[in-house]
Amino acid sequence: MSAAASPIIIAIDGPAASGKGTLARRLAATLGLRHLDTGLTYRAVAQAMLQAGLPLDNQELAAEVARHIELAGLDREALSDHAIGEAASQVAVMGAVREALVDAQRRFAARPPGAVLDGRDIGTVVCPNAIVKLFVTASPQIRAGRRFDEVSRTGSDLTFEQVLDDIVKRDERDMNRDDSPLKPAQGAHLIDTSEMDIETAFRTALAIVERAIEAG
Ligand code: DC
Repeated sequence: MSAAASPIIIAIDGPAASGKGTLARRLAATLGLRHLDTGLTYRAVAQAMLQAGLPLDNQELAAEVARHIELAGLDREALSDHAIGEAASQVAVMGAVREALVDAQRRFAARPPGAVLDGRDIGTVVCPNAIVKLFVTASPQIRAGRRFDEVSRTGSDLTFEQVLDDIVKRDERDMNRDDSPLKPAQGAHLIDTSEMDIETAFRTALAIVERAIEAG
């Protein structure tokens, strides 16, 4: 098979508010690839469960919901509610839910010309054969500051301390769960965006990705 025929898959992982979503979107647009924010797939399951009034601790029901999630048209704004984020991190610990969503994510990635996927387990579990893996991070204080600015603009009265507390708890849950914990994949390039503006982070990521694609 010629190199052009194999899909180009770029895996981006990292904690909440690290900047990975913005990088993933911009890399996909620049390289002409499709983009999937896999956090939205967990959020979509959570929203469907909440809307249907289903118990969030029922793995069989959650997995059934996960098997019917439509990836096209998932929208972060519509799924951005704090309650949805909380519920998403509860269903994200369930093996059967992850199995169903990972399956859909892999099918999305495999369609030509390929895709940029961002999440927590893309380089480690979903697409371990990605042509390039990035692990995007920043200190909890910096990430909380970014999130705080975002939520303040929407009129929220959350304090910086509450946002920081939330980020630290989420990290803890994502990094310490048994199934697919958040960690850098083997061979992942680390990008710490604590001291970078988005343009610098994007240029850094693009240079790494272009080198990897050239090296084939
Ligand atoms: O990135 P986010 O906040 O939208 O993710 C929502 C939840 O889903 C969060 O608790 C982490 C989890 N998640 C995951 O377990 N695996 C992924 N690939 C993406 C998100």
